[in-house]
Amino acid sequence: MSKYKDAKRVTTQILKAMKDGGEKISMLTAYDYSMARIVDDAGIDIILVGDSASNVMAGHETTLPITLDQMIYHATSVVKAVKRSFVVVDLPFGTYQSDPKGALKAAIRIMKESGAHGVKLEGGAEIKESIRRILTAGIPVMGHLGLTPQSIYKFGTYTVRAKEEEEAAKLVEDAKLLEKVGCFGIVLEKIPAKLGKIVAESVEIPVIGIGAGKDVDGQVLVIHDLLGITKEFQPRFLRRYLDLYAEIKGAVEHYIKDVKDKDFPNEKEQY
Ligand code: KIV
Repeated sequence: MSKYKDAKRVTTQILKAMKDGGEKISMLTAYDYSMARIVDDAGIDIILVGDSASNVMAGHETTLPITLDQMIYHATSVVKAVKRSFVVVDLPFGTYQSDPKGALKAAIRIMKESGAHGVKLEGGAEIKESIRRILTAGIPVMGHLGLTPQSIYKFGTYTVRAKEEEEAAKLVEDAKLLEKVGCFGIVLEKIPAKLGKIVAESVEIPVIGIGAGKDVDGQVLVIHDLLGITKEFQPRFLRRYLDLYAEIKGAVEHYIKDVKDKDFPNEKEQY
């Protein structure tokens, strides 16, 4: 049970207070009105309109193709449904890497057109000027370190990051930098649990893990993975709470049978 369950709206200040008070932060993705309504009603602290929409909603192999307009479309639908959660939207690939002005423009479009509460960017030192620029407009920024899917072609695989000392040291430095620049939180993806603990202890802002172990300040999952809608994606860190793929398939098969058997609609189901 959250100490902040009756908060009218989760804020960055509440997220920080959760970390300070040792309350773990819950975060999930959502990309549409109906799902966001359920997730918010259940009491999630942060809803991430992730660029994983590129995979689970649009069927792309990577997160790279999704556009700013498409992210705004998803974010607008989510924000309409949400009452309590803090809504963060991913800045899509290509909108913040080239210049800080462009990054600010993209972030402003997201905030203005969707009504979201903050944005998330992947990377550390190399994008610090973009983060600084976005923060000048009063837009809360969340960082994302470790496995950063927008850089998949640089990494080559989706395996665990920062196992080597050099990459781990850079990650800790990047986390400290993101805090210094003014990020309100950091997502840490697919790194050794030991390193997750070190990062969470090295900064005062909340660190939310996905495959970063239990000693971070909160956890995030892609909702389609948690619900078992995606089948092939089976990383060690994923806990599935439902097998919704099978449930939905079963329901659809049942419906098809009822239609074919002339059992649907029955007498009571028609005017
Ligand atoms: O896009 C996304 O869903 C994410 C999560 C994996 C953290 O960035």
